Amino acid sequence: MSIQDELASTIENLVKPGQGILAADESHPTIAKRFAAVGVESSEDKRREYRSVILSAPGLGEFISGVILFEETLGQKSLEDVRIPQLLESQGIVPGIKVDKGKKPLINAPGDEITFGLDGLDDRLEIYKNAGARFAKWRDVFHISDTLPSRQAVEANAEVLARYAAICQSMGIVPIVEPEVLIDGEHSMDRCAEVSEAVLREVFHALARHGVQLEHMILKPSMVTPGKECPKATPEQVAEATIRVFRQVVPAAVPGINFLSGGQTPEEATLNLNAINNLGSQPWALSFSYGRALQEPAQKAWAGNLENGPAAQEAILKRARLNGAARSGSYSTDMEA
Ligand code: 13P
Repeated sequence: MSIQDELASTIENLVKPGQGILAADESHPTIAKRFAAVGVESSEDKRREYRSVILSAPGLGEFISGVILFEETLGQKSLEDVRIPQLLESQGIVPGIKVDKGKKPLINAPGDEITFGLDGLDDRLEIYKNAGARFAKWRDVFHISDTLPSRQAVEANAEVLARYAAICQSMGIVPIVEPEVLIDGEHSMDRCAEVSEAVLREVFHALARHGVQLEHMILKPSMVTPGKECPKATPEQVAEATIRVFRQVVPAAVPGINFLSGGQTPEEATLNLNAINNLGSQPWALSFSYGRALQEPAQKAWAGNLENGPAAQEAILKRARLNGAARSGSYSTDMEA
């Protein structure tokens, strides 16, 4: 298959009605935090057990089109001794891989951060592709305050994100482009809209500068919401503000926008996605690429005990099914029962 055909086929498999992406790519420190919340100490065995349980949930592929894995998981075998990428394929799910190396402070821009990981990326992608990965993820992070993010942070992060995306596409790997505007803080929804618009505008300028094919990428943004310290907006307000910004800056050639959950509760993330899809037809498929909002209930159900595996599988299937419904605006809270 040519590189173009590979990219087109992966996009077709990822962007399907009723489906979204599961982000199970927590780095070691992040998964340790999630496990600690349910009283489990993180170890390679425990991570393998938990991820093996949720990824083999029967029927997961009905609602999940792709799973983003952490490097360690890509090379692991399930509890049934099947390579994880192979397990996903047997569920009809496309395996993907987080490829950024995390973030550090951006020098001479106090309060801002920059994502690392471009050095040697092509060599790593080759290894990941041989292991079964068909798409990748890179996350940029933007903090909001009255003065943050600086122009310098917006430009520098957009540049690395675009270079990552171009490298992925040159190797037949679909890039998920993730500029996350953080929910932390006491900013208004208007301030979040202003920052989101500036960040996305810069990201699409950089993608164009680097010749990234918009039809062969997926955008993974945050929704436009007030800061975490402020009273919550209604799902209708979030949907309206989010779509207003996106219609200004996201080109129609982008096939799919798969939101991150970013600290929203599982129910909130489903309600907000549902409201977004109830605003009528848009140029792009509007779906999810949730980490916490899909996994939190499953982690609680599992709590480090393999006997709870079936309950954990039921919990992740439930969130996947409900978000699958929100993908077409047909979710209602009665479905939670
Ligand atoms: P959350 O949905 O928990 O924000 O995670 C999504 C993700 O992949 C962040 O990079």
